[in-house]
Amino acid sequence: MGLFNRRKENRPTFEVLGTDMHCHLLPSVDDGSRDINETLSCLKTMKSLGFKKIYFTPHFQANYPNDETDIVKRFEQLKKALAPHASEIPELAGISGEYRFDQRYERRAGIDAVNPLPGKTLLCELSLHGSSYNPLESFKAFLAEGYNLILAHPERYPYLGIHSPELKEILDLGIKLQLNTLSLNGFYGPAALEKGFAFLENGWVSYLGTDLHNTHYAQELVATAANSKVQKVLQRYKFLNSEL
Ligand SMILES: [Fe+2]
Repeated sequence: MGLFNRRKENRPTFEVLGTDMHCHLLPSVDDGSRDINETLSCLKTMKSLGFKKIYFTPHFQANYPNDETDIVKRFEQLKKALAPHASEIPELAGISGEYRFDQRYERRAGIDAVNPLPGKTLLCELSLHGSSYNPLESFKAFLAEGYNLILAHPERYPYLGIHSPELKEILDLGIKLQLNTLSLNGFYGPAALEKGFAFLENGWVSYLGTDLHNTHYAQELVATAANSKVQKVLQRYKFLNSEL
């Protein structure tokens, strides 16, 4: 084996992804990082695992009715505060949100109020427990306005199986799927683990996201990076993370 191959094997696991576009590391705004020290610790771990760019995506939902203007201000303050640590952490590339589409959370000022990722891309999530609410009409309204939609962690919705007509419709609409990386290490239980790999097998997954909340998640991410099945997934599939 040549030197080149040995070097390649030693690369950090998530270097091939480059970008993370789903995390809750903006301090004290949702159920994620509690303070700047926890954020810094998590970001250092992410850098050691190969991430180069991070987008922050705090929750926008009934339990965390964040305000985009306030969130952007907090992000700018965080960037300033972490500037002395720039070499130890990934680039803090931008601030967006994880927008929950459910009956409890109506957008206050409509489609124009959201703060998307680059390429007018919006990270969306559904209710984790299911409801009678049908998000497809809302999704279609955003698509009609030129948004690109990413559905966060489809493997975590118990009501969304690989044979669900709703899932087929979501895919047919051109909505991209983002799997939680930790799902592939069993962090969310056996059902999400099994579905995560099934979605990959079907070629339905466009992004892997950490959905990192705190240092406990960061330790789980370290364990996930050491999982040989996850390493194989990263070698085998092409993800779009680095395009963000
Ligand atoms: Fe999330």
